[in-house]
Amino acid sequence: MIYLKTDDEIELLRENNILVSQTLAEVGRHCKPGVTTRELNDLAEAYMRSHGATPACLGYEGYPAATCISVNEQVVHGIPSDYVIKEGDIVSVDFCTFMKGFVGDSAYTFAVGEVSDEVKRLLDVTKEALYRGTAQAKAGNRVGDISAAVQEYAESFGYGVVRELEGHGLGRRMHEEPGVPNYGARGRGPLLKEGMVICIEPMITMGNRAVVFERDGWTVRTRDRKPAAHFEFAVAIRKSGPDVLTDFSIIEQALNS
Ligand code: MF3
Ligand code: CO
Repeated sequence: MIYLKTDDEIELLRENNILVSQTLAEVGRHCKPGVTTRELNDLAEAYMRSHGATPACLGYEGYPAATCISVNEQVVHGIPSDYVIKEGDIVSVDFCTFMKGFVGDSAYTFAVGEVSDEVKRLLDVTKEALYRGTAQAKAGNRVGDISAAVQEYAESFGYGVVRELEGHGLGRRMHEEPGVPNYGARGRGPLLKEGMVICIEPMITMGNRAVVFERDGWTVRTRDRKPAAHFEFAVAIRKSGPDVLTDFSIIEQALNS
């Protein structure tokens, strides 16, 4: 069942995703050598709560923290820990808010200090793959148009597209229909309609696309231990076209100030 949202509901989803963006900006400011991923988690949780939201990941199917923080070869769902962030790391931060009956869900991968040119390119390409997928999120298109746009762009650089996890509908619940894979064929899959809200979240690897699930029951990492990047937008499908509810400019302004 795909739930179509009213304009008012979309505004509540926007409020949530702006709060996620602001929280990501706060995390990005502190994502520096010497800080632990648990410290970043705690800061994000405090920020969300002080702005009226509950951390929707905490306790979700037993997940033990407010945020997922995945470093280098970790793709997604890394559990915050004592790991000390160092220069050259890439750190994906992904979490959900719950406020006013709706969920916010977005993610950003931060480069810590100077990262190698090849890692920088992985981040740029993953973000651009997200933008290209987002441009296809319009009424009359199908989910496969988004999937193919992401896949074709990422693979044209020789990168791997992770297939074990995918984007999803977003609303009163974190994971609604439809699923939004990062690979697929144009013109296939569920029809996109006005009022749908979806999360598009490419997970792109520098090497092979194979992943393994760690024994902690959550962390997903690349099998070849090469780095992976992950960016996520929440997008509403409107008459005017894709309406991105996440705001990366809040994050990028914080990083450049
Ligand atoms: N954006 C992530 C997802 O859609 C959020 C995961 S929260 C968790 O899967 F609790 F499942 F880890
Ligand atoms: Co998501």
